[in-house]
Amino acid sequence: MIRAAITGVQGYVPPDVLTNAQLARMVDTSDEWIVARTGIKERHILKGRGLGTSHMAAEAVRGLLKKTGTAPGAVDLLICATTTPDFVFPSTANLICDMADIHGIGSFDVQAACSGFIYALGIAAQFIETGRYSKIVVVGADKMSAIIDYTDRATCVLFGDGAGAVLVEPNRKYGVIDTVIRSDGAGMKHLHQKAGGSRMPPTSETVSKRLHYVHQEGAAVYKFAVAKMAEVTAEIMERNRLTSEMIDWLVPHQANKRIIEATAERMKLPPERTMVTIQKYGNTTAATIPLCLWDYEDKLKAGDRLVLAAFGGGFTWAGCYLTWAYDPR
Ligand code: ACO
Repeated sequence: MIRAAITGVQGYVPPDVLTNAQLARMVDTSDEWIVARTGIKERHILKGRGLGTSHMAAEAVRGLLKKTGTAPGAVDLLICATTTPDFVFPSTANLICDMADIHGIGSFDVQAACSGFIYALGIAAQFIETGRYSKIVVVGADKMSAIIDYTDRATCVLFGDGAGAVLVEPNRKYGVIDTVIRSDGAGMKHLHQKAGGSRMPPTSETVSKRLHYVHQEGAAVYKFAVAKMAEVTAEIMERNRLTSEMIDWLVPHQANKRIIEATAERMKLPPERTMVTIQKYGNTTAATIPLCLWDYEDKLKAGDRLVLAAFGGGFTWAGCYLTWAYDPR
């Protein structure tokens, strides 16, 4: 059987850092509150006129191609998971291809909020397993600062900007073994952006009412997140007959350190086998999982068993079981 293996990973975070101390000067919050409730210490913010999600994604993709020695012309397909596309259309994936000198291939965006990277990886895996394509780039990228209200203390402390990209190739030994993707649109009321889409197109009134920002009922999302992260990891473990001793790494979506810890505890995984980057990047939505893989790449060995898990707006949730394909370079 041919599996879809991740054969390289590259991340990008913009140079500007927004610390908790800086946020405490903007809204009524404190470093102590943010660290205790979320685990976040700082996050990166993309500044610069005219720079959107594609800027960070293209940086990651160009770095990935260079690092893996892949010619742009060899890429068969590019999928971008994002909730903050540069434009309603064309897709951010289209723009990334152009910026990374990749031309004439299929490319499209996947919108599944924070679960987007696992959704996109699952789609890429199908194209590899069928033998249709042999080099697919999957990117998770979000410029959350574009849709965050920096006068709302309940949301502005949580999010950051970033991008992560992986190369997916056929492999006879290692790769994606199982994916689970799920959604429930009834969860929309707890987490969404009210205006800017076709239901409520932008007007001066929607702008003055600040409807183009993330609306989140934090406690409801928290409850859902803890339940679904536990459910999807349990399902992945059960379907693949995995015990906690067999799992080398949990790669969880980084929304709140308490959610990550609750998930690891349910799986009976110790902290040293759980990837955590939230302290320095915050919640970068579709980018959190590839940024984790990038940060921990040097610790991963061929054959390591990874369980990826995410949840996000929609609601959406997703899980993936894969074996890592290479040793540290
Ligand atoms: N600083 C200080 N106080 C704050 C802040 C802040 N930044 N934010 C909220 N508070 C206050 C609230 O106003 C509230 O005060 P009150 O009791 O006087 O009303 C108090 O802190 C407690 O508020 P809660 O919302 O109950 O705090 P909680 O412990 O639930 O933490 C948080 C809030 C961090 C947002 C948490 O609910 C959470 O992580 N939720 C899930 C978020 C998430 O995972 N989102 C996923 C988004 S992914 C996507 O798809 C975009």
